[in-house]
Amino acid sequence: MKIELFPVIKFYKKIESTNALAHQYLEDTTFQSNFVICAGEQTNGKGRLERNWYSPVGGLYFTLSFPDQIFPPPITLFTGVVIHKVLSSIFQELTFSIKWPNDIFSNGKKLGGILTSSNKNGTVIGIGIDCNIEKIPDHLKEIATSLLIETGQKISLKKLLKIILKSFERDFYLFNEKGFSHFVEYFNNHHYLAYKRVLVYSGENQIEGIVKAVTEDGALKLETATGLQNILSADKIDIVE
Ligand code: BTN
Repeated sequence: MKIELFPVIKFYKKIESTNALAHQYLEDTTFQSNFVICAGEQTNGKGRLERNWYSPVGGLYFTLSFPDQIFPPPITLFTGVVIHKVLSSIFQELTFSIKWPNDIFSNGKKLGGILTSSNKNGTVIGIGIDCNIEKIPDHLKEIATSLLIETGQKISLKKLLKIILKSFERDFYLFNEKGFSHFVEYFNNHHYLAYKRVLVYSGENQIEGIVKAVTEDGALKLETATGLQNILSADKIDIVE
């Protein structure tokens, strides 16, 4: 697999977490070029807010790694757009949506997630997609799904990875040149939360409102009882029925 933006792609059968390993590599100053870490299975996959990411064989787990580079926060939303575009083009029979800030949904359930983190050594963008997973454990059944469950078909993980990396590469230059504003319309057109009444949890605070849009800066614009509010980050967002 040859991708210009990521000259090095490392595959592992089973590791703790592709994000954790990518951060370890970033500590190593001899690693100069961008690289990707991909794993067949993770024993300690990480989700947002220190949650675990269920990572059995069959899922696609990989981390895009950028030594010495820091991006504006909408890089996660941009990555969501790339994943959404790829999945929609391959699985035309399914409908996918992106839930601000980092989830990929299909059929009302979570199918993938993105976890971005940066430090002085650079940035990693970790992506997990439930692909060839036959059975979701009971405690996640109500909220998560897989491509295999939705389509009844298995997909080549290597092929999917290649298509995602190529699409990321193509749009990444546009993201750097024009920013998230170039992608915001696409995001809003496929936003899972669009026009829904939601409850946003942020630390001790809870804000209720109707989602108007995601802004060019990547904030979630809510219409609340006291007016419009832009939410920059959240721990959890529930839809209020
Ligand atoms: C979330 O929705 O909370 C984000 C989940 C991100 C999971 C991916 S799997 C590959 C990469 N390595 C990790 O440990 N986490 C991310």
